[in-house]
Amino acid sequence: MAIQGLFISFEGIDGAGKSTHIDALARAFEAQGRVVTTTREPGGTLLAEKLRAMILGDAMDAMTEALLVFAARRDHLQQVIEPALARAEVVLCDRFTDATFAYQGSGRGFDLKTLLFLERLVQTQQGPAGDFVRNPDLTVWFDLAPDIAAQRLAGTRVPDKFEAQPAAFFQRVSDGYLQRMQAAPNRFARINADQPRESVWRDVLAAFQRQGWLA
Ligand code: TMP
Repeated sequence: MAIQGLFISFEGIDGAGKSTHIDALARAFEAQGRVVTTTREPGGTLLAEKLRAMILGDAMDAMTEALLVFAARRDHLQQVIEPALARAEVVLCDRFTDATFAYQGSGRGFDLKTLLFLERLVQTQQGPAGDFVRNPDLTVWFDLAPDIAAQRLAGTRVPDKFEAQPAAFFQRVSDGYLQRMQAAPNRFARINADQPRESVWRDVLAAFQRQGWLA
């Protein structure tokens, strides 16, 4: 059977500890001979990285934020994600649209119906069998209580606009992730991120082995 592209996103509140596991997964896929594109949102292209600096640095209302995030996503999809998937690569994407539902939707209280509309508008692609809405094949959600995430982040770096939010914001973001998972349970692997790093890695690896993607 021909090798298929794989699109995997990684989610969680700030401080949940995604990064080291994304790097380790890239190495694990490469060890199996796969070509890996590691990327992030907001960002991943020159234009989207410029938008990221505004989104993370500048004050703006929730609708402006949502529109900029989706503008960055459109460019990222067209320039990086879709071409990589067409080459049958593994795309490891640090955050995707679930983050918009969690942060702008649940966290900031922006209208979820509008987000659903934007998701469909921005992510619709043409395939051989007609149009479809591009979404990850798997979303790894690093689930961590907001107070523990805050302890981990404390003093590590100057917080950006989101990292500086209070615990109540991150509780709403967490609830937002839960709602997204409940709406698409088969797409999600929920990982208990409140464990030593090696145990988290074991659980992450197991999720990929269950899919048959890693040995
Ligand atoms: P990062 O620090 O994990 O790279 O994430 C960047 C920040 O941007 C993080 O605080 C979450 C936020 N964000 C949104 O608010 N909406 C989005 O759609 C995305 C992708 C990220």
